[in-house]
Amino acid sequence: MVSRVIPVEPFDLVIIGGTGDLARRKILPALYQRFVAGQIGKESQIIGAARSEMETESYRSFAAEAIREFTDTDEVKPRKLAAFLKLVSYVTLDAKGEAGWKTLSGMVQENRIRAFYFSVGPSLFGDLAKRLQKYGMAEDDCRIVVEKPFGRDLATAKELNRILARHFDESQIYRIDHYLGKETVQNLMAVRFGNMLFEPLWNSQYVDHIQITVAESVGVGGRGGYYDRAGAMRDMVQNHLMQLFCLIAMEPPAKFEPDSVRDEKLKVIRALEHVKPENIVRGQYDGDGQNPGYRNEVENRDSTTETFVALKAHISNWRWAGTPFYLRTGKRLRDRASEIAVVFKDAPHSIFDEDAGRHHNILTIRLQPNEGIELGVTIKEPGPGGMRLVDVPLDMSFAEVLGPDEADFPDAYERLIMDVIRGNQTLFMRGDEVEAAWAWTDPIIAEWQAAGTEPEPYDPGGSGPEEALFLMHRDGRRWREIKP
Ligand code: BG6
Repeated sequence: MVSRVIPVEPFDLVIIGGTGDLARRKILPALYQRFVAGQIGKESQIIGAARSEMETESYRSFAAEAIREFTDTDEVKPRKLAAFLKLVSYVTLDAKGEAGWKTLSGMVQENRIRAFYFSVGPSLFGDLAKRLQKYGMAEDDCRIVVEKPFGRDLATAKELNRILARHFDESQIYRIDHYLGKETVQNLMAVRFGNMLFEPLWNSQYVDHIQITVAESVGVGGRGGYYDRAGAMRDMVQNHLMQLFCLIAMEPPAKFEPDSVRDEKLKVIRALEHVKPENIVRGQYDGDGQNPGYRNEVENRDSTTETFVALKAHISNWRWAGTPFYLRTGKRLRDRASEIAVVFKDAPHSIFDEDAGRHHNILTIRLQPNEGIELGVTIKEPGPGGMRLVDVPLDMSFAEVLGPDEADFPDAYERLIMDVIRGNQTLFMRGDEVEAAWAWTDPIIAEWQAAGTEPEPYDPGGSGPEEALFLMHRDGRRWREIKP
C-alpha cells in the first residue's frame, strides 16, 4: 500500500516564535518532512519571525540543526535539506512594538494562502492580531494557528476567544490539540464509523465500561516552570484525554467535516456530569535512586501539583447513561503507552457450567506505541477435558497489516499543518469546545483546591498511586496493565 500525497497549493507560513522550542522540535521538522514527501512545492515560503536579531542565513542554519536533531527518519539528505532551506527566511519582529512588521508585510505575497502560527505565549495573541490587521496582513481567508494551553480556566479561555474574535472569524482560527493529528486517534473514527460491526454494540446496553489511559514514562523534564502551574488535569485531561473521550463517545456525525464532527464532540462535553471528589485520584511521583522526585525536579518543596490523575466520569445522555468512563494519565509511569479499552458486558446467560467461568470481550485500541487494535474473544480451551473457556486476542498490529513503511505514521504536526494550508478545521478545536472542556474541569480543580488535599505520592516506574487501583476495585473492575 502506498499512501497518496496530494500537493498543497503554494502558501506563506509565518512562524511567530520561530526560534522557540516548538518551532525547533515540531514545526520545522514537520514542514521538512512534508517537503520531502512532495506535498509542499518550491514556491511556498516559510518565514521564521522572532525578537532576536538574525539574518536569514543564520535562521536557515538554526532550522537545519533542528531538522537534523528532531526528524525521525534515518538520515536527513543534504540535498533535500538544502532545497527545503531555500523556502525558509527570517524576519526580526517585535510582537509588542512596530519593529519588523512592515518588512514582514512586504515578504508575504498577495493572493495566496497565508497562515500565521502563533507559537508564543497567549499573552501576545492580542498584540499579534492587532498588528496583523494594522499592517494589512489579516485578510479574510488568512489563517492563524494557536497552541495549547488555550487558557488555564474558563475565564481565561473566554478572554482569549474574545481577543481573537475581535480580529478573526472562527473559520480562520486553528486551535491545535496535537492528539487529534495522531494517525491512530483519527483511526478511532474510522473504526467506529467505517465498520458495521461495532456501532450497534456501542452503548450502555452492551458496554460495561471504557478505560482511557495515556501513560508516559518521562517526568516533567525542563518544563517544570510551566508544569507546576498546570498539573496533569490542565496539561492532559482538559485537552488530550477529553478529545479521546469525545471521539470514543460521540454520536456519529452526519459527515466527516469540521462542524459536524465538532458539534458532536461538544454535545459529549456538555453532557458530562460533574466528577465528585471521591471519584478522582491525584498523584505526584516520588524520586528513586536514579531520578529526582517531582518536587525536586521543579524545585518546589511544597508543590501540590498533580502529575497523575485517574477519574471516573459519566455522560448523561441516552447512549451512555450508567456506563462509567475511567480516565487516567500520568508521568513517570511504567511505560509510554496510550490505549482505549472498551470492555463489553458478560453474556446475559451462560450455557456452560460454573467451571467455564464468566467472560467478556474487550476491544482495545492502542494509540501509541505499537499502534493497532486487539479484540479479546472467548474460545474453548483446547483439549479433551470439559468445556472450559479461555480469552484470546485477535490482535492486529498496524505495522504488520499495513507494512512497516505505511505504519511509520507521520508526526501529528505534519498532518495538522497541512490541514491548516488546506483549510480543513475538522481536527482543530472550536472555541466553544475548549470553553465547554474548561467548564467541566474548573469545578473539579476548584473543589480539590478548596479541600486543600495533597496528591498521593507514587513510585516512579509503576502504575500510579494505589488509590487509583481502588477507584476501580471498589466497582469490581480493574485497570488494564500499562504496557506498550
Ligand atoms: C503535551 C503535554 O501536550 O503532550 C506534555 O504538555 C505531554 O506534558 C505531551 O508530555 C504528550 O504528547 P505525546 O504526543 O508524547 O503523547
